[in-house]
Amino acid sequence: MPPWCTPAAAEDREQRHHAGPRDLTDEGRLPALAESTQELFRRSSRKDHAGTGDLQRRFEQAFGAPADQIVRSPGRVNMIGEHTDYNDGWALPAALDIGTDIAVRRRTHGLLRVRALRLDTNDERPLTDLRPGDGPEWTRYVRGCAALLRDTGHHLDGADLMIDSDLPLGAGLSSSASLELGILVALLATTGSDVKPTELARLGQRVENEIVGVDSGIMDQLAVASGVAGHLLLIDCRTLAVDPVPLPADVRILILDSAVPRSLAGSAYNRRRAECESALRVIQTAEPTVHALRDVTENLLALHQSRLTAVEFRRARHVIVENRRVLDGVVALRRGAVDEFGRLMNLSHISLRDDYQVSGPELDLLVGIATRAPGVLGARLTGAGFGGCAVALVTADHADDAAMAITAQYRRATGRPGSASICVPSNGAHVRSTVL
Ligand code: GLA
Repeated sequence: MPPWCTPAAAEDREQRHHAGPRDLTDEGRLPALAESTQELFRRSSRKDHAGTGDLQRRFEQAFGAPADQIVRSPGRVNMIGEHTDYNDGWALPAALDIGTDIAVRRRTHGLLRVRALRLDTNDERPLTDLRPGDGPEWTRYVRGCAALLRDTGHHLDGADLMIDSDLPLGAGLSSSASLELGILVALLATTGSDVKPTELARLGQRVENEIVGVDSGIMDQLAVASGVAGHLLLIDCRTLAVDPVPLPADVRILILDSAVPRSLAGSAYNRRRAECESALRVIQTAEPTVHALRDVTENLLALHQSRLTAVEFRRARHVIVENRRVLDGVVALRRGAVDEFGRLMNLSHISLRDDYQVSGPELDLLVGIATRAPGVLGARLTGAGFGGCAVALVTADHADDAAMAITAQYRRATGRPGSASICVPSNGAHVRSTVL
């Protein structure tokens, strides 16, 4: 279960995600859709959360003194390379221009005092007792980050924090990694220490694995920690090397929210991971040099197919072929072959649907509608699956029209409040302003 994913948060998400019209009717386009365009999509760069000035003001109101620093921690979208990270493989995410803002003030009161604006709720703990047990879901992430920093030798005196976000929560855009990395950067800012993105990502992943109990890989945290504006990030999940790949100027990233909550994501996710591990163990008995599914070729998999269950075989096949799609996709992007990249995205979705079995009727429908929309080069579910968002690559000149047409059609077909955002790859978690 992602942080803040309460009924109240879901309602809030609805309001914010569909907030405000962008007046397309003036431009005379799509007259048939004019009435409904008002809430069909938005450009992610428009701020509809508190904004840093407002965050400062609200911080001062709540805590009686201004914040020292404001941290920005992005969400992430994965363009291709799904469920490969915990198999030592490759992924190609981007940090987004929607995310979490955290205002922080160093204190010496020995407390962690936190206000979460979107939930209109607070948490206060002494730093000597950061047990996750008795708080609501989101507090486990915050307390977990502080506890892990303390346990890894960072001295915290106390902090007041205020959290705001313009990320759709629990929609597969890593609201949890965004929160984790934001809290880590904010707390570290109170200590003056500098920690490398890779190390930050590892700490965030430990919070997820050890405190929240989802056995996730490193992709989300590494993307959120290492984002580069205008670039996708080729992540080697074995070495944790991050290689920025420019997003060609003539395309846009379109995020399509199915408005299907990611139910059972945690337990089903852990099961998929266990299935990969059992496939690996079978192959390893005959191939001792294989350390992870990343080391298994398609030929090797075929050689051992008869010793695997049908499920193990399909899970392994997805991972192995998806790794190849990531590397082929990067080659295609680097030579500007965006239609080839789109084709690989489509294949990725089919593999996630049929072999990895993490899609669902609404996501399949949304991806199907998207792939038929003018200007769309490819589309697939993004993130863990089981609900949440799809991502499409679309030519820049069709992006607005595609966003509206896809969302309108999806809404008509499902009655769900789907929506779309055109997002821009952004920088990783950082202190965005220091208040002097
Ligand atoms: C979630 C996990 C990641 C990754 C994706 C699937 O987002 O947190 O580590 O496994 O699912 O690619």
